[in-house]
Amino acid sequence: MPTVCIDPVQKHHGVIALGCWSFDSSYWVGQEDDDSLAVMAGALRCGMNHFDTAFAYGRGKCESLIGRFLAANGLREQVFLATKGASHGGDGEGILALLEGSLNRLQVDHVDLYYIHWPTRGKDLRPVMEALERARSQGKIGAIGVSNFSVEQMAQISEVGKIDAHQLCYNLLWRYAEDEVIPYCLENNIAVVTYSSLAQGILTGKFPRGLELAKRDGRNRMLLFERDIWPHVCDGVEEFKSVADQAGRSLSHLAIRWLTARPGVRSVLIGARKVEQVEQNAAAMTGDIHPETLERLTAISDEVMKHIPDVGNIFRYYPQGEKR
Ligand SMILES: NC(=O)c1ccc[n+]([C@@H]2O[C@H](COP(=O)([O-])OP(=O)(O)OC[C@H]3O[C@@H](n4cnc5c(N)ncnc54)[C@H](OP(=O)(O)O)[C@@H]3O)[C@@H](O)[C@H]2O)c1
Repeated sequence: MPTVCIDPVQKHHGVIALGCWSFDSSYWVGQEDDDSLAVMAGALRCGMNHFDTAFAYGRGKCESLIGRFLAANGLREQVFLATKGASHGGDGEGILALLEGSLNRLQVDHVDLYYIHWPTRGKDLRPVMEALERARSQGKIGAIGVSNFSVEQMAQISEVGKIDAHQLCYNLLWRYAEDEVIPYCLENNIAVVTYSSLAQGILTGKFPRGLELAKRDGRNRMLLFERDIWPHVCDGVEEFKSVADQAGRSLSHLAIRWLTARPGVRSVLIGARKVEQVEQNAAAMTGDIHPETLERLTAISDEVMKHIPDVGNIFRYYPQGEKR
């Protein structure tokens, strides 16, 4: 078993990374491939060269688009490429088949980071980790990550392999990973990679209280938009915005910088649908932000979090497991 932790962000120069789920029009309704291709080119121009995707994003559609973009422009070496496959209840051969499919769609012979996307509750996932370690020794994977795992699930698979990164939901409106998961990552030298870093757009401050999402918008199923939670989210966002006004920065910039300052966070994934969004997000890393500004955001977040129930994850997604 390799003992060296490969830093999943080693090849890219910035902490912020491009989340490519936004290229999947089955969730992000109305997304056009041309815009997604422009987003990838824009991200690279801005120095954002860690691309994150998954088989689950459009069942391979996002991977195929990235593969097309990288191959057509000869850009594979410029990009730190991460993708994910489901654990299928602990089937090692199953995840290897998924990995092969991802390599084909991405048109590459290896990925820099491969995650087990969601754990299956109550299943022994060690066979999946053993399979990924074999793929690592064959050079098909640079680093191994998990996503949405509990401490117990991480501890179990660590018996047979080395977890390099944990991709988890973390933002000013969802902080449950701070309780146990991030401390475990810190103790075990596991890089924390955050997803839904802007709470799927909420932390740009652009949504009105009376928001009506398009009928097919996947966000209709997301916890923070639920009818009894949304008013509390809006109260918090208003307060965050007044801090941002006083700091002379956009709320999205503060939300991103708040994350980059949190212990353990090594990479912040942000999705973008238009090139303007990626440019705006990349600019978050410029200039200083006073630590007191970040402390004020934390204090507001502490209050909002009292109204957001710990339902396990913001999608209420529990692969073959019970709900809580
Ligand atoms: N491992 C997992 O289970 C998991 C789960 C979720 C996500 N992820 C990964 O994390 C990445 C990011 O998470 P996410 O996509 O859920 O949420 P996010 O990054 O918080 O939000 C992305 C969305 O916010 C809006 N947005 C982004 N920048 C903006 C800007 N500057 N101005 C205005 N609106 C802006 C866009 O949607 P609109 O323009 O439509 O508002 C965009 O699609 C994903 O792409 C994926 O790679 C992983």
